Amino acid sequence: MSDRAREDNEPDQAELQYRRASVADVPEITRARSLDSAPEPGDSRLAAYVEGTHHPQQALALRVVYVAVIGRSVAGYVAGHLSRRHACDGEVQYLWVAPQHRRQGVATELLRRLGGWFAEQRANRVCVNVAEDNVVARLFFRSCGAGDLERHWLVWADIRGAA
Ligand SMILES: CC(C)(COP(=O)(O)OP(=O)(O)OC[C@H]1O[C@@H](n2cnc3c(N)ncnc32)[C@H](O)[C@@H]1OP(=O)(O)O)[C@@H](O)C(=O)NCCC(=O)NCCS
Repeated sequence: MSDRAREDNEPDQAELQYRRASVADVPEITRARSLDSAPEPGDSRLAAYVEGTHHPQQALALRVVYVAVIGRSVAGYVAGHLSRRHACDGEVQYLWVAPQHRRQGVATELLRRLGGWFAEQRANRVCVNVAEDNVVARLFFRSCGAGDLERHWLVWADIRGAA
């Protein structure tokens, strides 16, 4: 931890760790997300999604979740699955970073890891649903190389070039 972070009693970025998540992480993900005052709540189907009992449209069975953690606290998460939606190979299903950790590259690193997983599955064309008024998410995904697909949807023609 840097002296500055110690003084401020704030977690240093060096303490952030990234790893694959399991259904055991869902309660902490849900708790962390509940602290975000944004009007958009987390999806209550996250546990079912991770366990493979909730399938978004045209989803295949294979899916993955990555978390950014500081100790036991979740600072962010991303999830994606193989899919046939929009003639794609995969879809980014969830992405969220805690407000106090934003603009520090956390989502970029989460997406880089998810992109690596898609590449391992030979799933290169990947889409993501983004509300039209979610300007920040659109800027973020564009910063990672996504382009317009259609209303509400962005796409990477080849996610190996993302992030
Ligand atoms: C969208 C979100 C995941 C971005 O997370 P993040 O960790 O802050 O993103 P990063 O720090 O990796 O940002 C990478 C780049 O994205 C763009 N970006 C991210 N947030 C931005 C903002 N508020 N304004 C403008 N550009 C932004 C920038 O180009 C940024 O690079 P820079 O900081 O060097 O300028 C986060 O804001 C979030 O959780 N939002 C609420 C949930 C959500 O909307 N999820 C997406 C659902 S589809």
